[in-house]
Amino acid sequence: MSKVLIISAHPLSAPESISLQLLEHFLKGYSESHPSDEIETLNLYDEPIDFLRAKDFASFNDDDTIPAKNPIAEYSRKFASYDTYLLVAPMWNFLFPAILKAYIDYIVTAEITFHYTSNGPEGLLKNKGKRAIYITATGGIGYFDGPLSAINYGYPYLKSVFGFMGIDIMTYLVAEGTAQAEYFEKKDEDLIRAYETGKNF
Ligand SMILES: Cc1cc2nc3c(=O)[nH]c(=O)nc-3n(C[C@H](O)[C@H](O)[C@H](O)COP(=O)(O)O)c2cc1C
Repeated sequence: MSKVLIISAHPLSAPESISLQLLEHFLKGYSESHPSDEIETLNLYDEPIDFLRAKDFASFNDDDTIPAKNPIAEYSRKFASYDTYLLVAPMWNFLFPAILKAYIDYIVTAEITFHYTSNGPEGLLKNKGKRAIYITATGGIGYFDGPLSAINYGYPYLKSVFGFMGIDIMTYLVAEGTAQAEYFEKKDEDLIRAYETGKNF
């Protein structure tokens, strides 16, 4: 049994969002092939997550670690306790919404998700079989393996920062071209692909 955390960085609900519809279809497939997994959702827009501020740094220990009772440490510990991460977010301005970056600044914390060694920083979540998938939708076409890949800042960044914490396995599921008038003809194909991806994940 795997503990799954859905990290949603989407302010809307499924009928209004293609990436959330992808997630729904992914989950249908995933639940069929992993019926006993525990799945929880963390909706970042419902959380008291803020940009890191001076008060947060003032509350950290002198060695930059975070005291156990600190709310930031709670986000980080909770994150570290899962095996599988389903990140869902729209593409906004070549990236994901800022709330996801704010959350990442909470969870990348010394002595919880990484630590410093004499050879430099090392992820504390490595070799634990953890894995992640990034589920997103983009108005244009070509951000993943296409002509716009140089300006896709979301997925490469997530891959780097999850890798930094030791989560080396990350893939993506994307619906592209959602801003184009003919997208509705392609949408069902994307939803079927989402279901198959979930089933085989
Ligand atoms: C604030 C905002 C910024 C956007 N920026 C981009 C962008 O940089 N590139 C792009 O291809 N589409 C962009 N779009 C279009 C969305 O990526 C597209 O509508 C996508 O379907 C959003 O995912 P969703 O359907 O899950 O909401 C943007 C949309 C909004 C609302």
